[in-house]
Amino acid sequence: MARVRVGVGDGYDVVVSEDALADVWLALAPRKRVGLVSQAGVFEHHGAAVIGSLDRAGVEVIRTAIGDGEDAKSMATVQQLCRLWAREGLLRGDAVVALGGGVVGDTAGFAAAVYHRGIAVLQCPTTLLAMVDAAIGGKTAVNLPEGKNLVGAFHQPVGVLADVSTLATLPDREYRAGLGEVAKYALMDDAIDDGGIARILAEQRAAVEGRDVAALTDLVTRSAAIKARVVTADPEERTGLRATLNYGHTLAHALETVGHHDLHHGEAVAVGLVFAGALAAAMERIPVAAAEDHRTLVAGLGLPTEAPGLPAGDLLAVMRRDKKASGGLTFVLQGPYGLESIDDPPARALAAAFAAVGIDS
Ligand SMILES: NC(=O)c1ccc[n+]([C@@H]2O[C@H](COP(=O)([O-])OP(=O)(O)OC[C@H]3O[C@@H](n4cnc5c(N)ncnc54)[C@H](O)[C@@H]3O)[C@@H](O)[C@H]2O)c1
Repeated sequence: MARVRVGVGDGYDVVVSEDALADVWLALAPRKRVGLVSQAGVFEHHGAAVIGSLDRAGVEVIRTAIGDGEDAKSMATVQQLCRLWAREGLLRGDAVVALGGGVVGDTAGFAAAVYHRGIAVLQCPTTLLAMVDAAIGGKTAVNLPEGKNLVGAFHQPVGVLADVSTLATLPDREYRAGLGEVAKYALMDDAIDDGGIARILAEQRAAVEGRDVAALTDLVTRSAAIKARVVTADPEERTGLRATLNYGHTLAHALETVGHHDLHHGEAVAVGLVFAGALAAAMERIPVAAAEDHRTLVAGLGLPTEAPGLPAGDLLAVMRRDKKASGGLTFVLQGPYGLESIDDPPARALAAAFAAVGIDS
């Protein structure tokens, strides 16, 4: 079992272990009523562990299964949750438990942020992506027909229980997509991790592929530690430090939008990392060999390194509209001083980076 401290607000722990869900009651004590939000498929596999833990402590549970996918991450779902909790008399001193991937975590987290002007939420991520990213840091949001994550709030959880044994039932494509975010942490070259994630990915390939709980505990803990360090230093994305977590994401978001989500988020991040490495090399910020390391790592995880067929012009138009951009084009790139936000790279470097991911420009 490992524990990572997130020092935002009152502070909370990310607990990483193979039976973390058994301690749901402990993370919520002494509360006696909770709203448990999950999805049918997740609840079928992992609901019993949570219900069992809460039952043993005599906690009353109000259960809801929300729908699957981005459509369920909506104001309508938030209203449905809040109305149910109101009917069932969930009070301000009670809590919400989010059991699922990022869709459940974001939606239940946002509902908890606004219900009674904010009640406690315990994040219990069950996808690799949610364990290393979405469940940590207090960002919650739902989608509007006009765009993704347009309505949200910062609402830090009271705790995060990352039970790596739940990853055994995750569909293969979802698991691999989560490895795209783990690759991001490996390539962030974080001073505190000192290459540890990259080493595990390279040296324990079979264990990672086989979802070995010891390897996963190590990977999730190290990734969570990087995320925790960044959000602790810049909890509400004000200094630019938190933007470094978007390494590989500028192109990734555009690939998702222009490609109508043919690529899963983590797969798009994988291509975005190869692009960011190539762009940094073309701008002579890093050696060509370091850019090749990006490709080798991503390819070794069985993730895509190219996204041919998408028009560069459409991708550039979407990247200019990116909500993190300050008018022009902004990329998080490696360089001699580590990750930095770089505005408006030269056209020749952009063309080289597009070519590196199989896109004509
Ligand atoms: N808040 C943040 O900081 C943040 C960061 C990154 C991503 N996100 C959001 O996260 C969402 C994506 O999350 P995701 O990748 O976890 O996808 P997801 O929540 O859609 O889960 C993927 C699928 O796996 C199923 N599933 C989840 N856990 C399972 C398990 N253990 N066994 C079997 N099936 C399981 C889900 O029911 C779903 O069908 C996006 O909406 C994205 O915007 C938020």
